[in-house]
Amino acid sequence: MKRTLITTALPYANGPVHIGHLAGVYVPADIYARYMRMRGEEVLLVGGSDEHGVPITLKAKNEGVTPQDIVDRYHGIIKKAFADFGITFDVYSRTTSDTHYQVSSNFFKTLYEKGEFIEKTSEQYYDPEAKQFLADRYITGICPHCKSEGAYGDQCEACGTSLNATDLIDPKSTISGAKPELKETKHWYLPLDKYEPFLKQWILEDHKEWKPNVYGQCKSWIDMGLQPRAVSRDLDWGVPVPIEGGEGKVLYVWFDAPIGYISATKELTPEWEKWWKDDDTRMLHFIGKDNIVFHCIVFPTMLKAHGDYNLPENVPANEFLNLEGDKISTSRNWAVWLHEYLEEFPGKQDVLRYVLTANAPETKDNDFTWKDFQARNNNELVAILGNFVNRALVLTHKYYGGEVPAAGELTDTDKATLAELATTKEKLQKALDTYHFREALFEAMNVARIGNKYIADEEPWKVVKTDPERVKTIMNICLQITANCTIALESFLPFSMEKLRGYLNVDALAWEDLGKADLIPAGHTINKADLLFEKIEDATIEAQVQKLLDTKAANEVDSYEAAPAKDNCSFDDFMKMDIRVGTILEAEKVAKTKKLMKLLVDTGIDKRTVVSGIAEHYTAEEVIGKQVSILVNLEPRKLRGIESQGMILMAENADGKLEFINPENEVVNGSSVS
Ligand code: MF3
Ligand code: ZN
Repeated sequence: MKRTLITTALPYANGPVHIGHLAGVYVPADIYARYMRMRGEEVLLVGGSDEHGVPITLKAKNEGVTPQDIVDRYHGIIKKAFADFGITFDVYSRTTSDTHYQVSSNFFKTLYEKGEFIEKTSEQYYDPEAKQFLADRYITGICPHCKSEGAYGDQCEACGTSLNATDLIDPKSTISGAKPELKETKHWYLPLDKYEPFLKQWILEDHKEWKPNVYGQCKSWIDMGLQPRAVSRDLDWGVPVPIEGGEGKVLYVWFDAPIGYISATKELTPEWEKWWKDDDTRMLHFIGKDNIVFHCIVFPTMLKAHGDYNLPENVPANEFLNLEGDKISTSRNWAVWLHEYLEEFPGKQDVLRYVLTANAPETKDNDFTWKDFQARNNNELVAILGNFVNRALVLTHKYYGGEVPAAGELTDTDKATLAELATTKEKLQKALDTYHFREALFEAMNVARIGNKYIADEEPWKVVKTDPERVKTIMNICLQITANCTIALESFLPFSMEKLRGYLNVDALAWEDLGKADLIPAGHTINKADLLFEKIEDATIEAQVQKLLDTKAANEVDSYEAAPAKDNCSFDDFMKMDIRVGTILEAEKVAKTKKLMKLLVDTGIDKRTVVSGIAEHYTAEEVIGKQVSILVNLEPRKLRGIESQGMILMAENADGKLEFINPENEVVNGSSVS
């Protein structure tokens, strides 16, 4: 087979990585890379951090540090998280490396010299005080649609509409606060329109086998008609535009980032060219759905225009993973961060890898829930895989002191079981070859399911009493199936399969061994075994759910908008109000209403009836005895036939819950509040 170059989307180095990244891109890419290596194929798994772009400069500005500081910090965190989860990158580089500056700069120059770009002058906002052009994110103003303030030049976050900076009412530069002016600026454009016929043929005709979500998105882009795209920006963070007239301009982040795959390969090996230019290399891009256009249309057009490089053979993009029903969001901290997971579930990388693969967003967006995480761990990893291999290992120690017994004559069940192993291999291989990793994991787990069923049906612990000779065959087969597990599940659960090989006392087996029944010879001694997986208790899961609920509550408070201030009132007006502290003596819900509660309040002046709208928030028992603030000279009015003499003062929380306003320490009833 051809050698395989696997690229993984370069994550932006402006935050840590979370389960969505892992599920969508890095776990599937790693599974595939490990699988190909087991098959003895030549593979490279390439990754790195995407360290340019406006959001990084904004974050730096907010924190008062340089963009380089930001990317240095997160590049380290991200790289470590991937290593911790066993993503077997051959190289994990970054787009601020010297090599990348050279490679991307030369790439641009080549296209420029070949006359591939269109040069165009357009009007863009310019900050006359800071003397620089403004990226859309650097301009805020009033949204033309919902009229809220603080909308960005590319999007209003209040109403979600995407905008052009020139749509904003009363625009302001976030750098100096100045009113931006329109000024002419020159940029270089990649003429996607010119490549439309090529893209039509190459994708729509020649790659009908691409996943429907990928093919469909490409088709709708092409059908809408492609436009030239600017590949430079007026910014000072990025790879400088390396030609005359390019001063003060950088390559657009989406131009330089995919070239990062080439740079990383070049950093890794002097033979990098064979990975990018040879006919006998196939290239695969693993990405999330928001990257499809760039990897199927823009980057291939760049490669084609350049002329020297291969195009991708496939782009197995995934959809998005949600968390407990909501979109994962870095700014709202709605995520399970990989570094936090590892602190809370040390050593349980494989559990997360398993759950994210079993529930991968391959064809549609999917949801990660902690309940499902627990169920898959307890009902699948523990109850099927863990249970089976544990029985096989423990019984081998118990009956044979850890020495693998020789099998005798096989029964029909034995033969059928072994035959099933062979067909499972075929299905597993087919699923992996077509990037159906959920299905592949299911097939791989079937090896354990076959073993679990076999040992449960054969009941060696019973047979041992009547026919000890037969038990040797049963246990031999169980150990062969266990060895098969280490192959079938290796790319999904690498940490656990390494442990399991340790228990079995065997080296890594090759893919071609999968399905065979002679992997461990009779007489071989296995090692002492431990549990592969452990049950996850309800309390652990509840703690994770609580953590998310706390995040949600904190977000509600953060996003709470106080009501606008009222007009001033005079001191005299204020003094007209007679507010006292009183104590609730009696309380009862007003019949046939949802909100109203009838209270008897000792105001210090008298005992009076007040009707208050608190019944949805408090029970009568809860409020009796409470001290409250009461406006006693409010004109009496009738509510549901009851005369209410005054008003209890309440504060309304962000979630709408009413809270009493009462003195910090008890005071005598009738104390006035002023
Ligand atoms: N940083 C981009 C993102 O997170 C992905 C870049 S992929 C590359 O969406 F091809 F440009 F590298
Ligand atoms: Zn708006």
